[in-house]
Amino acid sequence: MYSSLDSFLSLIFFFTILSLTHSSTEYLKLPLIPRTTLSNVSNILAADLHRISGLRTLPQSPLTSGAAMGSGQYFADLRIGSPPQRLLLVADTGSDLVWVKCSACRNCSTKRPGSAFLPRHSRSFSSYHCYDSPCRFVPQPTPTHCNNRTKLHTPCRYEYSYADGSTTTGFFSKETTTFNTSSNKQGKIKNLAFGCGFKTSGPSVTGSSFNGAQGVMGLGRGPISFTSQLGRKFGNTFSYCLLDYTLSPAPKSYLTIGASSNDVISRKLFSYTPFATNPLSPSFYYITIQSVSVDGIRLPINTSVWGIDDNGNGGTVLDSGTTISFLAEPAYRQVLAAFRRRVKLPAAEGATALGFDLCVNVSGITRPRLPKLRFFLAGKSVLSPPAGNYFIEPADGVKCLAVQAVRPGSGFSVIGNLMQQGYLFEFDLHRSRIGFSRHGCAVR
Ligand SMILES: *[C@@H]1O[C@H](CO)[C@@H](O)[C@H](O)[C@H]1NC(C)=O
Ligand SMILES: *[C@@H]1O[C@H](CO)[C@@H](O)[C@H](O)[C@H]1NC(C)=O
Ligand SMILES: *[C@@H]1O[C@H](CO)[C@@H](O)[C@H](O)[C@H]1NC(C)=O
Ligand SMILES: *[C@@H]1O[C@H](CO)[C@@H](O)[C@H](O)[C@H]1NC(C)=O
Ligand SMILES: *[C@@H]1O[C@H](CO)[C@@H](O)[C@H](O)[C@H]1NC(C)=O
Ligand SMILES: *[C@@H]1O[C@H](CO)[C@@H](O)[C@H](O)[C@H]1NC(C)=O
Repeated sequence: MYSSLDSFLSLIFFFTILSLTHSSTEYLKLPLIPRTTLSNVSNILAADLHRISGLRTLPQSPLTSGAAMGSGQYFADLRIGSPPQRLLLVADTGSDLVWVKCSACRNCSTKRPGSAFLPRHSRSFSSYHCYDSPCRFVPQPTPTHCNNRTKLHTPCRYEYSYADGSTTTGFFSKETTTFNTSSNKQGKIKNLAFGCGFKTSGPSVTGSSFNGAQGVMGLGRGPISFTSQLGRKFGNTFSYCLLDYTLSPAPKSYLTIGASSNDVISRKLFSYTPFATNPLSPSFYYITIQSVSVDGIRLPINTSVWGIDDNGNGGTVLDSGTTISFLAEPAYRQVLAAFRRRVKLPAAEGATALGFDLCVNVSGITRPRLPKLRFFLAGKSVLSPPAGNYFIEPADGVKCLAVQAVRPGSGFSVIGNLMQQGYLFEFDLHRSRIGFSRHGCAVR
């Protein structure tokens, strides 16, 4: 059912490229801007737990996100409208809808620019009609009044909810977007379908946890996500490198759409793992962990711990919106026990109050030896991250294992953005697989 919906949509979301001739070597390149104000580790953990706890109630509709905004550390810079208006969106691989806060303001020259999208200031904006086919793919507020006979312009209303009850409602619309390409040319793409949100509510999308964002760029696996819509024109592939945002100055991270990575680095340097599928959560990018090792010793974790059950619980999601990583509880307990056995550093006093189970005191030690964590994935690939990807430094001289437990039957394991740092991740939607490489971030 899902694939037929997808192919149907590929007919509807027909993109016209105005000034960009797509060649196989050209791709779209969007800067990902790290958010720095959540540097307090307790706040990051709280935001991540908020996102993860929302996952207990799986979404009923495939078009409702299963996630609340976590500590989602990366913003994408989107330009929409004619002339282009610049907006900062939370880049989220855990949801599908692209939406921005909209303001109906007519003459906003005195208003602070960039706080909302102003459709009245754009020549290319239009809302879908309620009887337009794309309208069927966004959740509608009830009751819907769509009368085709009267032919009155009834716009397509949408109401999109996140797992914690946060919602955005408004008009499902289309706009022209402006991008830079890999060869620094400017490209425009017509008819990006997005939610023009006139009302937002809930903790995820308002206030400090939204951190000044003007919307969300859903990069999920579903058909209306930014990457699915644009990917149709660019080989159904997107990739990103998340670089360490705690460095100063923070290195530039990019989201690229349509990059064929062999233009940049050799395919041989990539490891691939196939997507797993959860029909009850089609937005997420699931991968399959088969086993875990600590300092080269494979842990005796029952493989059923990693599976997706009939209720859609379990499995492992690659998520940009969560900072730390989460493992199903029986696996987490064994990983933690193995770390405790292998780590030869003194415990950091009082540090467990921060919410982590293992914190070590590394003050005065120039090169502390931390145990080596490896994930063995389906497709015979191995994710072997550096220790900095799974130890977080909440205070000078203190390092905590940035992994937490997820209770069985209450969600899934998560490879968060910290664990992904320094890797080029390529989401190959066409071949249903994820490629990753430690080589390739430098050249992007
Ligand atoms: C982190 O910030 C919160 C408030 O935002 C504060 O209550 C807490 O004490 C801070 N924690 C640390 C370790 O600085
Ligand atoms: C609209 O803004 C311009 C300044 O850009 C100002 O001169 C004009 O009076 C404004 N019009 C209204 C109706 O507020
Ligand atoms: C409504 O009318 C439009 C154009 O008149 C047509 O393309 C569309 O299929 C109709 N939709 C429904 C649900 O009848
Ligand atoms: C494109 O790149 C130029 C030069 O780096 C920059 O000034 C401009 O803002 C970029 N445009 C977009 C749409 O990102
Ligand atoms: C693994 O877990 C499954 C389901 O809980 C159980 O049926 C099976 O016996 C377990 N296997 C081992 C080797 O413990
Ligand atoms: C870490 O160890 C140093 C001495 O080596 C000590 O002064 C400091 O209080 C310790 N810090 C914590 C958080 O345990």
